[in-house]
Amino acid sequence: METLFSGIQPSGIPTIGNYIGALKQFSDVQDDYNCYFCIVDQHAITVPQDRLKLRKQIRQLAAIYLASGIDPEKSTLFIQSEVPAHVQASWMLTTIASIGELERMTQFKDKSQKQVEGVPAGLLTYPPLMAADIVIYNTNIVPVGEDQKQHIELTRNLVDRFNSRYNDILIKPEIRMPKVGGRVMSLQDPTKKMSKSDDNQKNFISLLDEPNVAAKKIKSAVTDSDGVIKFDREQKPGVTNLLSIYSSLTDESIEDLVSKYKDSNYGTFKADLAEVVKEFLTDFQAKYNDYYNSDKLDDILDDGRDKAHKASFKTLKKMEKAMGLGRKR
Ligand code: AMP
Ligand code: TRP
Repeated sequence: METLFSGIQPSGIPTIGNYIGALKQFSDVQDDYNCYFCIVDQHAITVPQDRLKLRKQIRQLAAIYLASGIDPEKSTLFIQSEVPAHVQASWMLTTIASIGELERMTQFKDKSQKQVEGVPAGLLTYPPLMAADIVIYNTNIVPVGEDQKQHIELTRNLVDRFNSRYNDILIKPEIRMPKVGGRVMSLQDPTKKMSKSDDNQKNFISLLDEPNVAAKKIKSAVTDSDGVIKFDREQKPGVTNLLSIYSSLTDESIEDLVSKYKDSNYGTFKADLAEVVKEFLTDFQAKYNDYYNSDKLDDILDDGRDKAHKASFKTLKKMEKAMGLGRKR
């Protein structure tokens, strides 16, 4: 069976963008792959975090993974910082990455501009850590949203470089993007990505938003003035975004939705979607609360840590051997 790995940063409460672009797909693939789902807290600290808030968000994210349908009997769910091989392998990959290629990463450029107290070096070396996350499990498939494509490309380049320079031991991963909703956009500015760290609460719907509040956010989402419901990313980014969200949450195709609403106005369309979102969140949060408040969560994470440690250790040792680190054993 092939291996699949993905990670989410505990740097805020995930949005429906994270759900559609990542979490929803994860639970769909558990029977087909040997899956690792990681709470990447070491990635989160590449920008300043509040210690207590971070700790809470780690636990919340674990419960969110489970509420999204991750089954600990089938998949390994764990916290990055509890498995030492990630950082150990990342150092080796950092030594073969060039500063130039790291500086070219769009996410580095965006995030470094936002830093007021100097740019942390970890923001630059973030992609080799991500590459390490992936390669230490001999990952074949990485399901992520479109914004992570560049990092996966870089991972593939680092794998080629490592294999040709040292020994042919690392597996080159493939990216997997969702068919619909790979990039859920901001509700008030549909030309930019929906992000959990947005300053304006109206731009995103968090998975833990009160369902009625979320419904209101949908109703006040920015659209356009021509009143036609159709899918057109360039001309109609707002309506297109809402159609994608609708389609992902209900599994109705975009074509079916367009024909269903061809004689409707935006008001009706948004009211229906608001209801869909409200129902989805109500159901989701019931499951979430169950996990968040139970001891089961710690048992699941302990078990995940042990399994992940065991699996990653082997590749780490091979990498160290290939690079000549330590003693010959
Ligand atoms: P992050 O929130 O950056 O930790 O992203 C976690 C996962 O969700 C990654 O796989 C992202 O590609 C995906 N993701 C984040 N934001 C969005 C979005 N607005 N639309 C679709 N996928 C997203
Ligand atoms: N960089 C990813 C993000 O911000 C999170 C991440 C870290 C990841 N390591 C990963 C995703 C490995 C996939 C595989 O969304």
